[in-house]
Amino acid sequence: MVVIIGSDHGAFEAKESLKESLNGHEIIDVGTDSADSCHYPEYAVALVREVIKRDTIGIILCGSGIGVSMVANRYAGIRAALVRTTEEARLSREHNNSNVLCLGGRISSEDEIKEIVKTWINTPFEGGRHSIRLSMFENLGEKMD
Ligand code: RB5
Repeated sequence: MVVIIGSDHGAFEAKESLKESLNGHEIIDVGTDSADSCHYPEYAVALVREVIKRDTIGIILCGSGIGVSMVANRYAGIRAALVRTTEEARLSREHNNSNVLCLGGRISSEDEIKEIVKTWINTPFEGGRHSIRLSMFENLGEKMD
């Protein structure tokens, strides 16, 4: 699977560590490329654009995960979930068909992040009644230009 990944400086080390654990997937890293201070919206936007263009999934991190989740969810077609536990990761796939996973590099440990990502990638969407609910908000939000 193609997985887009990105972060700001607040989760740069967590992103690098996570990439090493994602064997068997094609990883496209949209940055940042160092721990120097930067602006999380730039990387969230870059990630979302790749997710939409390639019709795939993405994992975006910042210090808390909050800022990047706000940015990502402004785009039509993006269902970004801010996740702290493997249970939330599972539910965000089964019920919400999340296609962008948002994580906090200053909140979750590198080991927790790897477990959350493993659960998230390997859990399928349940469909059924959940599809109806998703269709109720799929046309909200800004369109990508
Ligand atoms: C950067 O200091 C921090 O604000 C950012 O990583 C993120 O937590 C924003 O939501």
